[in-house]
Amino acid sequence: MAFYRDTWVEVDLDAISENVGNMRQLLPEHTQIIAVVKANAYGHGAEYVAKTALASGASALAVAFLDEALALRKKGITAPILVLGAARPEDAGVAAEENISLTVFQKDWLEEAGRYLTGRKLSVHLKCDTGMGRIGVRTLQELKEVEKIVNQQSCFYFEGIFTHFATADEIDTTLYEKQYSQFQDMVLNLEHRPPYVHCANSAAALRFDQSPFNAVRFGIAMYGLSPSPAIKPVLPFPLKEAFSLHTKVTHVKQIHAGDTVSYGATYQASGDEWIATLPIGYADGWIRRLSGQEVIIDGERAPIVGRICMDQCMVKLARPVAVGTKATLIGKQGDLSIPVDEIAEKLETINYEVTCSISSRVPRIFLKNGNDVADVSNPVLEG
Ligand SMILES: Cc1ncc(COP(=O)(O)O)c(C=O)c1O
Repeated sequence: MAFYRDTWVEVDLDAISENVGNMRQLLPEHTQIIAVVKANAYGHGAEYVAKTALASGASALAVAFLDEALALRKKGITAPILVLGAARPEDAGVAAEENISLTVFQKDWLEEAGRYLTGRKLSVHLKCDTGMGRIGVRTLQELKEVEKIVNQQSCFYFEGIFTHFATADEIDTTLYEKQYSQFQDMVLNLEHRPPYVHCANSAAALRFDQSPFNAVRFGIAMYGLSPSPAIKPVLPFPLKEAFSLHTKVTHVKQIHAGDTVSYGATYQASGDEWIATLPIGYADGWIRRLSGQEVIIDGERAPIVGRICMDQCMVKLARPVAVGTKATLIGKQGDLSIPVDEIAEKLETINYEVTCSISSRVPRIFLKNGNDVADVSNPVLEG
């Protein structure tokens, strides 16, 4: 797939492969890696990340919604896929047909879904809410009721049980430990232990023993990003960032004292200044709050001045550069680097939100074996 604009994301598939490989080495042999590729693989590109993760030591995939799972099946991916979020009971038949596993936690849901499964079998993972407060059964009684229906009705296959941690990325492990032991208790109270028993996200998989269970759900760290700044210093292996964002200068001009830049004329030059225009704006996910953030151009960091527009923004240069000069907004250029975490800090958010927010208008280029371009995804042209 081609693209016809000078703004793009590069996704380093070798980095993804290395992160999954390192996780594989850290885990006991009986523990499977479920690669979490929801939200278009946290903005990286689900198809390529999924294929790379599966080739590097992951054995299954997880997404948030059934649509995301179906899109992966359409790309020819046959590995087990689990939908982590709630699906509609009337879609159970579609999931069963495509061999996609769904998350269950309500008796009524199971009874209704059963009506859409005539002659088909749906694999389900039972979700326990041990403290996240999102979805899942909260008591042993609820667990037993849901398990009973799953075991009794031939349209269901009890494939897994899981929970999700709220604070595995925090230094204080009190709630983590409480959730962990509550989950262990729930698993012990099952009539039948299903093939998949999993609770760890990246933070828990990297920090704590998962040997009582046999799978981990590996998301943010697969992309080379730390689950939180707090646990960065205690990670068991270095993570390699896969995501970078680049553009090229479209216009360079000199402005003079009193001249203003962009909507609202909020930036005013105090003397002679060189200004470059970049073809990226808030419709690309480069949001207005990033005004003032620096980008790397020609071996220097240059600040964004004035308001970020929908499709363009302006930076102040130390010296003029040629039209077409590459500007790096996230990632490395020469000896300089702007990590995803720097943007997250500027936006007072988490790194997850940064990569997810770079919109589908920005094409993704997938790099493999050094710098070979494996493919390009451009939803704008793909339609
Ligand atoms: C249920 C569930 N499991 C696993 C993950 C992966 O978490 P992480 O990206 O922190 O590894 C997520 C992500 O939010 C999730 O919602």
